[in-house]
Amino acid sequence: MEERKISRERFSSGLAVFFATLGSAVGLGNIWKFPHKVGSYGGGAFLFVYLLCILFVGMPVMISEFYIGRKTRKNAVGAFERLKPGSPWKSIGLMGVGAAYLIMFFYSAVGGWVYSYVWKTLKGDFIGITADTAAGEFGKTIIGPIPPIFWQFIVICVVSIILILGVQKGIEKITKTLMPVLFILLIICAARAITLPGAAEGLRFLFHIDFSQINTEAILEAMGLAFFKLSLGMGTMITYASYYTQDNDMIGTSAKVAISDTIVSLLAGIAIFPTVFSFGMEPGAGPGLLFITIPLVFSKIWLGNILLPAFFILASIAATTAMLSMMEVPIAYFSEEKGLSRTKAVLINGIVIFVIGILAALSADEGALLGQFRDPLLQKTFFDVFDYLSSNIILPLGGLFIAIFVGFMIKKEDFIHEISNQGTLSNQKLASGLYFVLRYVTPVLLIIVFLNMIGIIKLA
Ligand code: TRP
Repeated sequence: MEERKISRERFSSGLAVFFATLGSAVGLGNIWKFPHKVGSYGGGAFLFVYLLCILFVGMPVMISEFYIGRKTRKNAVGAFERLKPGSPWKSIGLMGVGAAYLIMFFYSAVGGWVYSYVWKTLKGDFIGITADTAAGEFGKTIIGPIPPIFWQFIVICVVSIILILGVQKGIEKITKTLMPVLFILLIICAARAITLPGAAEGLRFLFHIDFSQINTEAILEAMGLAFFKLSLGMGTMITYASYYTQDNDMIGTSAKVAISDTIVSLLAGIAIFPTVFSFGMEPGAGPGLLFITIPLVFSKIWLGNILLPAFFILASIAATTAMLSMMEVPIAYFSEEKGLSRTKAVLINGIVIFVIGILAALSADEGALLGQFRDPLLQKTFFDVFDYLSSNIILPLGGLFIAIFVGFMIKKEDFIHEISNQGTLSNQKLASGLYFVLRYVTPVLLIIVFLNMIGIIKLA
């Protein structure tokens, strides 16, 4: 095939790099997944393990992905091929493209719930709500077949349109405008929640560390959540870094993104758990937590009728900017490696995600056939299988290989040279320490977690 010269887009500034990357990290993971996982796995102790995962595994893997992406300026598959031509390493990129689909299938379903809440809250469906009616409204949202599929379709259309606009006019513009507003609204929510009667119990649940709560499953979940939260292990950050400006301080970006993302998750936790306890609800209520508690908090707030739709509008924005980054992985791959036009790649991927995503959208409805289906191996619904396989298995596995790739296949000097922007930043010592961590700490921790999962060793 004739070599086509593709002129690659880039983000226009350091600020754009930061917001796009943060836009990928901040998403339903913070306001939906983080609270319900912390709730199900025992609160503070889970949070502690999660933070360790972010520090010793998440950030090093993130910087490795940045390295691979910016160095090669290629999509997730092409990047490995450029660094180690003709080697099997590019299958890590292909595994990432596969994981992107698995995540999109269920993420677009939850995105659909959020979008439908925007509509419902704007109509005023939640005025004067109680704990019971809030649960009832959530029930209605996930019952199919039409509403969940319809809203999932809308989500995929919105994401597709922004992606067709491209990197600068689409991804960059949307993320830069909307991230700061989300942050402010979350602070308002959290402030109201901690002034509810009985809030202290919720805060205690979130921050009190009791290690007897930690078991094998909780450790695996915390690791999976760290990968999911920071969009790691499947080439999202490789793809985004391929659009980075050449002078970006990648260690700095990773620290800023990891810290901001964790603050957003904690704010969501502070908004949700005091409310849960204040209203006598169950912290381990699962995926519905966000959709039931947030309407309740706002029903108690001055101007709540305005703030509630605003909150879900912002949640929908967070979901959308995160989905952009997920879908960009296959889009960049198909347009650069397979010669499809960007528009064609977006349309084909959008259709595939929508069609298979229906399996996830309908499996949250316990009354429906798909809701009762359980796979033979894990005994989970389609929704949970997509989530479990991607977050808990494929992303950490991808992360393991990415750390090994950079730690052992890339020369230390080359790594330091690129991370220090050809010596213009004075972070050589830090980069060298990071290289050590990538070789001997991150992979070892990941292997321990996996061995623990299979039952070969026993951590807790
Ligand atoms: N980090 C996002 C969230 O928390 C989800 C996400 C976006 C993601 N891109 C990803 C997860 C890539 C895993 C891999 O909502």
